[in-house]
Amino acid sequence: MPHTGLVAAESRVGSRTIAGLINELADSPGPRYRALSSAISSLLLDGRLGAGTRLPSERALATELAISRATATAAYEELAAQGLLQRRRGSGSYLMLPAASRVAGPGSRVTRGPRGAEVIDLSIAALPGLPGVIEAAAAQLLPELGRYALHDGYQPYGIEPLRVAVAQRYADRGVPTTAEHILITNGAQHGFDLILRATLNAGDRVLVEQPTYPGALDSIRAHHGRPVPAPIGRDGGWDPAAIANALRQTSPRLAYLIPDFHNPTGFLADTDSRQRVAAAARRAGTPLVIDESFVDLDLRPAGSTVPTPMAATSANVFSLGSMSKAVWGGLRVGWIRADPDSIARLAVIRARADMGGAVIEQLMAVRLLAQLEELIAERRHALREQRDVLLAALGRQLPAWRTLEPAGGLSAWVELDAPGATPLTHLLEQRAVLINSGSRFAVDASQERFLRIPFALAPAELLRAVTVMAQAWTDLADGRLAPPSRPGSLITA
Ligand SMILES: Cc1ncc(COP(=O)(O)O)c(C=O)c1O
Repeated sequence: MPHTGLVAAESRVGSRTIAGLINELADSPGPRYRALSSAISSLLLDGRLGAGTRLPSERALATELAISRATATAAYEELAAQGLLQRRRGSGSYLMLPAASRVAGPGSRVTRGPRGAEVIDLSIAALPGLPGVIEAAAAQLLPELGRYALHDGYQPYGIEPLRVAVAQRYADRGVPTTAEHILITNGAQHGFDLILRATLNAGDRVLVEQPTYPGALDSIRAHHGRPVPAPIGRDGGWDPAAIANALRQTSPRLAYLIPDFHNPTGFLADTDSRQRVAAAARRAGTPLVIDESFVDLDLRPAGSTVPTPMAATSANVFSLGSMSKAVWGGLRVGWIRADPDSIARLAVIRARADMGGAVIEQLMAVRLLAQLEELIAERRHALREQRDVLLAALGRQLPAWRTLEPAGGLSAWVELDAPGATPLTHLLEQRAVLINSGSRFAVDASQERFLRIPFALAPAELLRAVTVMAQAWTDLADGRLAPPSRPGSLITA
């Protein structure tokens, strides 16, 4: 059976599994061993094989791929020379990430490309803080901080004023909520990890949209869960029938969904789809994890409203929220909304791991939430312009590529006129444009026809990026091949 998806760290991958993953990638001209090593390095670098995975023996791989053993050996040697394979005598060959890519985080990403060119980083869909805003929030919290410093400061549920402020936002959106329904976390990613810890057993299925946010896939796999994909609709929203079918057929332990300005597509699920999905989840007995990280980044015309949160449809919903997308990722403040009993269970689990979040950031978050509407208005204005510049440039320079206008969020999901997104991203990296191929957002090896293009950068950079992309796509079509890529960041936001 071909393997679908990432193979977890310290796991073992069989020769048939790896052959299944490689087939589509190894089909390139040049020496066979190089195509093989390049295919394996792509699988590692785009996350489909985890660092620490033990590869099959050279003999087993050679047999499975019907190549000579010398070819398999040469491919492994090349991977070892690139720092991607560790060969342990007597125990096999293990994939590893080279030292440069092990430090996670945007700060670790390259800022200079080949020959000193400035890198355009489209690998992450996140914004810097608005000028002056974060500093002002930090400067204003000193008097309050003094009051908190009189106590021990351990608050596993989060500080009360922030729980109250977050609860009020849900109440304003039509879901009766009190502070007891809220657990403050170190971001939405942390919140999802806690929910997985609380609910998932090894081997359990978790339904996800395909494409989906790769950080969620990584978390599910880190907890030894099995992501099950349901295709997203092609018309700018969910395909509720596909989600309902997947729920019925696979009875997943959880479903993780992003109805509000979905990453990577920017889609918005409508009220009818939400009701149908909630009903299907109820029938399947599957709790929903609803990631609302992007809910404030609505880019539709002024006056449009976002449907009532999924939490209004059922008690069996965990909602995830975050300050990261609308305000700043460096704050590391997010939350879970759920019924008070679940929140109490999650607080016990979180206390075991980190005792509680930092009081300083939470105090800043209280201040920033109070001015959120103002901040968002400024964000939306810039983002609409950036989105429009990007789509217009794509229309001019790459008219055969297709995209639906994202209703919100930070990225466009672009369909290429032929498969080849991964080789394109490798070539772009050499030309100082960092971007993720669609396969990074897939459970399986699919989505190779897609690219996620964030519009979080300034218009001039977006225009430059599209020009580089158009040239690279032409060069690829002309048969000029991209050599194997080197790793960039471990984070895909
Ligand atoms: C859908 C989605 N959820 C969660 C996160 C992580 O957010 P946080 O910074 O709040 O942990 C991201 C980051 O890109 C995201 O796109």
